[in-house]
This record gives sequence, C-alpha cells and structure tokens, in this order.
Amino acid sequence: MKNISLGNCQLQHLLQEISRKAVYDALEISLIPEILRSKPPQTADYQTAVALSLAKDLKKSPREVGQLILSKICHPLIEKVELAGPGFINIYLSQTYLEDHAKELFEPFEKNKHRVLIDYSSPNVAKELHVGHLRSTIIGDSLARLFELLGYKVMKINHIGDFGTQFGMLVTYIIENQLDLSFANLVDLMEWYRASKVCFDEDAAFKKRSQEMVVRLQSHEEEIQKIWKKILDVSRLGFEEIYQVLDVDLLERGESFYQPYLKSTVDLFEKKGLVEISGNAKCVFLEGYKDQNDAPLPLIIQKSDGGFNYATTDLAALKYRIEEDKADKIIYVTDAGQSQHLHMVFDAAKKCGFYQPEKTVVEHAPFGLVLNPDGTKMKTRSGEVFRLIDLIKEAVGQAKQILVSRYGEEMDEDEVEKMAKILGVNAIKYADLSSVRTKDYIFSFERMLRFEGNTAAFNLYSYVRIKSILKKCKKSPGPILIYHPTERKLLLALYQLYEAIDLVQRDLMPHRIAEYLYHLAETFNEFFRDCRVEGAEEEPSRISLLQKTLEAFEWCFGILGLKTLERM
Ligand code: ARG
Repeated sequence: MKNISLGNCQLQHLLQEISRKAVYDALEISLIPEILRSKPPQTADYQTAVALSLAKDLKKSPREVGQLILSKICHPLIEKVELAGPGFINIYLSQTYLEDHAKELFEPFEKNKHRVLIDYSSPNVAKELHVGHLRSTIIGDSLARLFELLGYKVMKINHIGDFGTQFGMLVTYIIENQLDLSFANLVDLMEWYRASKVCFDEDAAFKKRSQEMVVRLQSHEEEIQKIWKKILDVSRLGFEEIYQVLDVDLLERGESFYQPYLKSTVDLFEKKGLVEISGNAKCVFLEGYKDQNDAPLPLIIQKSDGGFNYATTDLAALKYRIEEDKADKIIYVTDAGQSQHLHMVFDAAKKCGFYQPEKTVVEHAPFGLVLNPDGTKMKTRSGEVFRLIDLIKEAVGQAKQILVSRYGEEMDEDEVEKMAKILGVNAIKYADLSSVRTKDYIFSFERMLRFEGNTAAFNLYSYVRIKSILKKCKKSPGPILIYHPTERKLLLALYQLYEAIDLVQRDLMPHRIAEYLYHLAETFNEFFRDCRVEGAEEEPSRISLLQKTLEAFEWCFGILGLKTLERM
C-alpha cells in the first residue's frame, strides 16, 4: 500500500517534484532531492543540499552544480531561488501562490479503498488496564483518527487478552474457592487474579491444575466457558467505562476470536516443514533471534502440553487480518517490550508465506514506559500499577480546582464540571501524544494541566481566542491577501500541517502533530500581536485567514482526539 498523496497543499512534495525535474533537466540524473525547511535567521522558506551531494560524482564544484540546477527551476509556487554558502539552494515561495491556493486548504480527503487495521489498547481481562494500555489506547486512537482523516477505511481492533494462562489460574481459583461471580466487579476480579497468581507461583499442583484448565477452556468445556464468559462481562464493563471517558470506540476481537484458526495455523507451519520439536514444544526457528546465551531463540507455537500460546494467537490473527479482513496495512501499538515477540511473529508469517511484505504493510509502533516525575516506573504506593480510571478522575479533579481558582464564582457548577472533564482528559491525551512515542514519558499532573507552554490547555486557549475574535468581526470574509510578515508566516504554517500529517502517515509518530499545533498556536499569537483584525481595512482577508486557522486547529484536535470548548 502506497501512502496517499496529499496534493498541492503539501508544499514540500511539490518542491521535491519541481527540483527532481530541474535536476533531471540540468544533469539527466534521476533522483528525488531532499527539501528541508529553512530556519531563522535565514529568510528563505525551504532549501536543498542536492548540489552538494552530487558535486563529487560530477567532478564539479557544488556551487557550479547548484547554478545548473537552479537555472532549470521554474514554477508558479516559487518566487525566487538563490545559491547560498557552499552550494545550498534557497527557495522563496510565491506569496501569490500561497494566497491563491489557500481556499484548497483543509478540503476533506477523498475516501480511498485501502484498509488500515490498528491493533491497540488490548488489555488483559481481569487485570484491568494499566498505564501501558493507556498509552496504547491514546496513541493507537490518534493513529486511527489520522488514517480516517486521510480517507482510509480503518479497523480499530481491541485484541484483548481473554484466553491465556491467566484464565487458567483465575478460573481454577474461582472454582476451587467457590467464589460467586454474580455480583463481582473488576476490582474483585483483580483481587482474585492477584490471589490466584500467588497460588500459581507458589503451589506447583495449583500451577498444574491451572495449565490443564487452559486446555479445558480452549477445548470449549461448557461449565468453564460459562465462568469465562462471566469474567469477560465483568471486565468489559470496567474497560467500557474508561473507553467512554476517553472517547474511543474499538471493535473487541480478543485472542479467543482466533481459537478456531489456531490448529490450522500450526498445521500450516508443519506442512511447510517449518516446525522443529524442542523441549517437547513445537517451535519455529527464525534467523537473527538469540537468547541470553547466544543460542538460537525459537518462537514456540504450541506448548508441550498441547496448549496454544500468545504467539499462536498472534500468527492466526495476522493471517486472519491479511486474508479475511483484507487489510493493506496492519499496525500494532504496544510497549517496546513486545517488539521481539511481534517481529518474530511477523518473520514467521513471512517464512510461512501468508504475509507478503510487497502486498501488506505490517508494522509495530512501539512506545516507551510511563514514569513518575522522579523517574521511577509508574506504580501506586502498594506497588501496583495505577488504576486507570482513578488516574483519569484525578486529572479531571485537578483541572476542576484550576478552573475554580481561575474563574471563581463566574462559572456555574455544571459548566465547571463539563469543562474540567474536557480539560482533564485532553491533558492526559496531549501529554502522551506530545512526547516522542518511542521514548519513556513522564506523567505529571502538574505539567500536563498547565495553561502555558506546549500543553492541551494552551492550544485550546488559542483556539477559543480565535473563535472570540471572529465573533466580534462584522465584515464578510474575503479572499486571503497578505500584508504583514507574521500574516505570511501564519499562512505558510497552515500549509505545513500537510507536511506533519504526511510524516505521521509514514512514521506513526503523533508528536509531530502536537509539535505542529504548538507552533501554529504560537504563530497565531504572533499574528494577533502584530495584526489587527476587527475594524481593520484588511478585515475581510484576515477573517478568512483565521477561519482557515481554526480549521487547522480542528484537524489537529481531531487527530489527537481532543475535545474543544466554545469558551475558556
Ligand atoms: N494483551 C497484550 C498485553 O496486554 C497486548 C496485545 C497486543 N496485540 C497483539 N496482537 N499482540 O500485553
């Protein structure tokens, strides 16, 4: 699946295309030059170092090569090109072009036929979501929203852990202790899970019974299925509460969904001669994976007791996603700790032949740990991972306090309540999404709830400010015409959202949207410092510019899954 082209508003691509042609016309060389944004104090908008990279092979000076390329550049997008330093080509964009094409900004993308399947959130039943699942949920959902915006058909899959060893433990524990599931909630389940884990770790006989229980469950024994279903229902209620607050909507397709396909998947590996028996288990050996002792590390696809495991399910799931769901791109959003597991699964599927990288894109989008402000791994005092719903409630509570101290009596209770919920949830999402996905990230209520700096509230505040400016304007919007340098800067920034989106569709790093949003908010604030809107002669153009700016904000909020407010 190729990434979709973002059209004429993606200036970097347009410049790439223009300079590709110029290089070919000047030198008969085919390549796609890299185009970078210029940074102040440079006054150009973009630049390329293509001449420097070609000079050596051509046995010419970079400036000479630059001159040759530059003389072939001619396009209405470009106002002026110049040679700079050792051979850089500086590009200045045409103001007229930017003005004329502004009306094309933020037109909805056409729907396309490609399917993107994203596997995210995916908590384990009875264990409740923890901060790692919170990251997966937030990041996965943002990617889903981005691909939806781009017109793809998106499948949001919740691959919940509903079939593994933990069930064997839990069901055994419930049966043996004659526990009543009728009134149990998620907290009870977690209690029992914890207790069963202790038995499992300390009592070899219990461990054995639990493992047998997994096999009984997987072979559909009716009594056991009943208990299992009940556990699922209780867990689901707990998950749903969180998904509702976070406004995410996933299709639940847990590990158990693939149960009918596990045996045939293992059979396929056997038929292809890829299975070796090691320690009585069915294993697939893949190139490049070693254990701590540097011995080949196998992917176990069927355990010695005949039970299927996490890898079997993931192989069957991948096969199903490719063959039945007909996904063109499959993205797994999990913590970096699962990287090796997933890559082994991908490689095994490739070896087996049902995953062909030329046909389907399969990617892991890993993320780092969640840390406390003091750098320790995030857990509650008793050493357990935070209850997620409490974490969210805490953010909402703190947002409420901030609102009360900011606005005091001005606001009625209901409104404070409503705003606090939006601000609190936005803060949690934005803090996560504005961090570089692959790095560990520090969870700090104090920082995420600030009204200054790169925070959800600051960006939302800028958005609300534009709304209130527009409300005051009395003239009708007119064509966008640029008068002031910061006005030009704002217009250019609008185009650059396409570059951020384009990058994220390639590298799946949502912080680029947050970074962009912050830049946009700051650029808007500069504009507003320098340019009067209401009552100015330029009012009609500036109204249109601000309307487009609002749309850019809305795209960003949409991708990041943030809710907006009418006032703040
Ligand atoms: N349930 C797993 C966990 O909590 C995550 C599942 C990720 N998806 C997958 N297809 N393996 O660690």
